Amino acid sequence: MIGIVLAGGSGTRLAPLTLLANKHALPLGNVPMIHHSIDLLAKIGVNRVIVVCGDSDAAKFMRYLKDGSAFGVSVSYTYQDRPGGIAEALGLCRAFAAGDQAFVVLADNGVEYVDTLAHAVRELGHADRWRDAAIFTTPVSEPQHYGVIARDADGHVTAIVEKPSVPPSNLAVTGFYLYPPDVFDVVPTLVPSARGELEITDVNNWYLRQGRLRMYELEGYWWDAGESLAQYQTMHRHVLEHGANHWKRPISAPPEAS
Ligand code: DAU
Repeated sequence: MIGIVLAGGSGTRLAPLTLLANKHALPLGNVPMIHHSIDLLAKIGVNRVIVVCGDSDAAKFMRYLKDGSAFGVSVSYTYQDRPGGIAEALGLCRAFAAGDQAFVVLADNGVEYVDTLAHAVRELGHADRWRDAAIFTTPVSEPQHYGVIARDADGHVTAIVEKPSVPPSNLAVTGFYLYPPDVFDVVPTLVPSARGELEITDVNNWYLRQGRLRMYELEGYWWDAGESLAQYQTMHRHVLEHGANHWKRPISAPPEAS
């Protein structure tokens, strides 16, 4: 399994901080935001990582992360020319994945506990289970800012709705995704959304329609530090105090390196 860290995009919601620095280079706790993404992948046993960079700050990520060995992973880099969407950024990694599964992390997202993510990697990381994709949900108070789970009267998930003005539930889809190798065939079939981006929610709905989407609920706090300046500041203080990427339960066996 490869890890894909998406650190492109424009970060306009964190202006004016992002006028001088890339969003993922801003401090979150005692380290730059992107540090948490690489640390997370190392902890859940995904040790071959590609970082998708955008804008003129890509060199800063290289200077900070180097080859990844300080994190116990190997890091490569690729470049997204313009913010054409999360799914577009994912599609750039096809050659790097070379037929492997992909664990995708949005670099402005993070977690208190890594247990659920590590569990999914173990559960789906075997060749005979490479068919399914996985998303990770959490209840939120303002679901209209996220991809949101919609269910029918029987409780079956019917769709994921991107930033709905009337949210069908309070269950948000967080910025962690596990995909089988054919995700790189799905991306080229997407059409840009109204905001001109290839949407990751369209990828997830494709797997949902195929009956190939698994859902896991995260434990502990989760952040999307790119959602607003207020949320970034709150999470920065929170992570300073409480840290991130903890294990909730003692690990019985180390996650299988993949
Ligand atoms: O945070 C979770 C949410 O992330 C999900 O609930 C939504 O379904 C999903 O669409 C996404 O929504 P956002 O509006 O928060 O995504 P944003 O545009 O902020 O992009 C998230 C990260 O993805 C960002 O930190 C950088 C990376 N990115 C984004 C774009 C648009 C890229 O690498 N390239 C891009 O073109």
